[in-house]
Amino acid sequence: MPLPKAELHLHIEGTLEPELAFALAARNGVELPYADTEELRKAYQFSDLQSFLDLYYELMAVLRTEQDFEELADAYLERAAAQGVRHAEIFFDPQAHIARGVGIGTVIQGLARALDRSEERHGVSTQLIMCFLRDQSSESAMETLEAAKPYLNRIVGVGLDSAEVGHPPVKFREVYEAAAALGLRRVAHAGEEGPPAYIWEALDVLGVERVDHGLRAMEDPELVERLVRERVPLTLCPLSNVRLRAVDVLEQHPLARMLAAGLLCTVNSDDPAYFGGYVGDNFHAVRDALGLELEQMRTLARNSFEAAFLEHDEERRGRYLAEVEAYEFGAG
Ligand code: HPA
Ligand code: ZN
Repeated sequence: MPLPKAELHLHIEGTLEPELAFALAARNGVELPYADTEELRKAYQFSDLQSFLDLYYELMAVLRTEQDFEELADAYLERAAAQGVRHAEIFFDPQAHIARGVGIGTVIQGLARALDRSEERHGVSTQLIMCFLRDQSSESAMETLEAAKPYLNRIVGVGLDSAEVGHPPVKFREVYEAAAALGLRRVAHAGEEGPPAYIWEALDVLGVERVDHGLRAMEDPELVERLVRERVPLTLCPLSNVRLRAVDVLEQHPLARMLAAGLLCTVNSDDPAYFGGYVGDNFHAVRDALGLELEQMRTLARNSFEAAFLEHDEERRGRYLAEVEAYEFGAG
């Protein structure tokens, strides 16, 4: 039995495996510029975030119907459950679909069909976080929030993703204020490729409660001190960082130093179909590469539930945390 954990940094579009991409392409009459899954997999060589995003957005062309989004989410939840995920807070990118003529209702209702069955079918509780694309305008983000209003009961919060450098958090001040006024929780990608200043801004201007990645926080001791003091969770994605060349090799990943500094670190998969592993694979990889102790693995699992947006159901959080404390290492 794998270590129970929550996954808090997962783009549902990034769980699109090549086999499903081709199956959906055939069903929807979409032509992909790759002969087969093998040729597609060869394209999974990234030099930075943008080189990945180009392929990520290209493959989304196959996602067209509610059923497509349902099958995508169901496939993720099955794989996640097999790796010990008990709770998942799932990002989606509505603007990338709206731009292709796929409405936000199709996306949310399709995902919801899988999420509504997830506890029963996979033993995984779920929530949705709607992300704004930071390389699009703030007006577009505001229009997206407006379009999401009929579905707000399905969404726990908002996030910010896509190309980071040159698109600082401050650009989205108004839309985050509007989201907060609607009762939505706030997170943002910051410090993946961008500087520590973007993490400060995400905290001070956007009011985020968790920082997605936050990898570059360690460059700024004052920032680390604040993140520790305020117990701001960081959703790290180690295999993603290697694949997108944010770190050279996993052995040089700052996770162990971040834990030692007292940061509330979690480990997540980001876009597992593209980065060579789901969340359990990320746990195993950091344990091997960084020589983490078993009790540090338990800390990562505990942190994931402490950082989850479960304030409406503390009883559930308590059950998950009790599972983590009772977990016996050895079986995998
Ligand atoms: N970073 C930024 N945007 C993204 C990512 C990521 O790792 N994955 C999907 N959108
Ligand atoms: Zn991400």
